[in-house]
Amino acid sequence: MQIADKVVLITGASEGIGAACAAAFGRRGAQLSLAARSEDKLKQAASEAGTKDTLIVAGDVTSGEDRKRIVERTLERFGRIDILINNAGVGLYAPSWEAPFDQLRSMMEVNFFAAVAMTQLVVPQMKRQGGGCIVNVSSIAGQIALPWFTLYSSSKYALGAFTRGLRMELKHDNIHAIEVCPGYVKTRFQDHVLAGAPPEGVRKARRFAITAETCAEAIARGVERNRRVVVTPRSGILLIALSRAFPALMDWQLARMYHKLKSNG
Ligand SMILES: NC(=O)c1ccc[n+]([C@@H]2O[C@H](COP(=O)([O-])OP(=O)(O)OC[C@H]3O[C@@H](n4cnc5c(N)ncnc54)[C@H](OP(=O)(O)O)[C@@H]3O)[C@@H](O)[C@H]2O)c1
Repeated sequence: MQIADKVVLITGASEGIGAACAAAFGRRGAQLSLAARSEDKLKQAASEAGTKDTLIVAGDVTSGEDRKRIVERTLERFGRIDILINNAGVGLYAPSWEAPFDQLRSMMEVNFFAAVAMTQLVVPQMKRQGGGCIVNVSSIAGQIALPWFTLYSSSKYALGAFTRGLRMELKHDNIHAIEVCPGYVKTRFQDHVLAGAPPEGVRKARRFAITAETCAEAIARGVERNRRVVVTPRSGILLIALSRAFPALMDWQLARMYHKLKSNG
């Protein structure tokens, strides 16, 4: 899909990958509607995107009322929504076998239920318009279960399955769905986790992380080329292929890494 002049609604647009998407889609001539809880940071993201007529809507995607307001305000301003980027997301490091359920539910509310609910609000409009594109920002952790991040991985697997099924459901309505699987991206994501903390080794791996701008460019190109899945960096494709070809070996290696990370704190 061509991005110029399209109306793009981005959740989690106040910083990180969402704010970088605002800039990447803005550069390509999109009209932007940016949503997140922090109005101040949204204003900054909008000014950095450098587009005229950018709408910002402060709201929490886990609130039904806020989600409705985000979509309604976007339609009032622009009259259509061509691309929805479900990007808002949070992490959780507590081990799966002892994580408090309220934390797990909070994470699922943001990473999965909010994305489904936003999609349900936007798809009827896309059908009326004759098409659109839903971009769900998952993770490599949604393709390979990471033992230091089991529950987060589970939320992203759910988002991935939703995206694949949705794409087939809406194929004949000219509505495409893209699953985005970034590896480690240099954002403040690790500071925003709901519980637990990344093991020291995960923090150190940040030096291999890609920038939010690189990730956003890959997302914009994925939309332009109607990709089904966007993996960024591309080395992640090899990792995913290895995990499919040699699942037992991948389990063994990841379990080894996990126990090493735990013993090093
Ligand atoms: N960073 C990575 O290494 C990485 C790797 C793979 C996938 N991802 C995924 O990429 C997406 C973006 O992550 P990021 O790295 O950019 O994280 P980030 O820097 O922590 O940004 C998260 C964004 O989500 C928003 N957000 C969080 N909870 C929200 C809520 N309840 N309602 C509305 N907005 C909410 C935040 O804004 P407010 O606080 O203002 O609401 C912020 O704009 C997430 O889905 C994440 O799972 C990240």
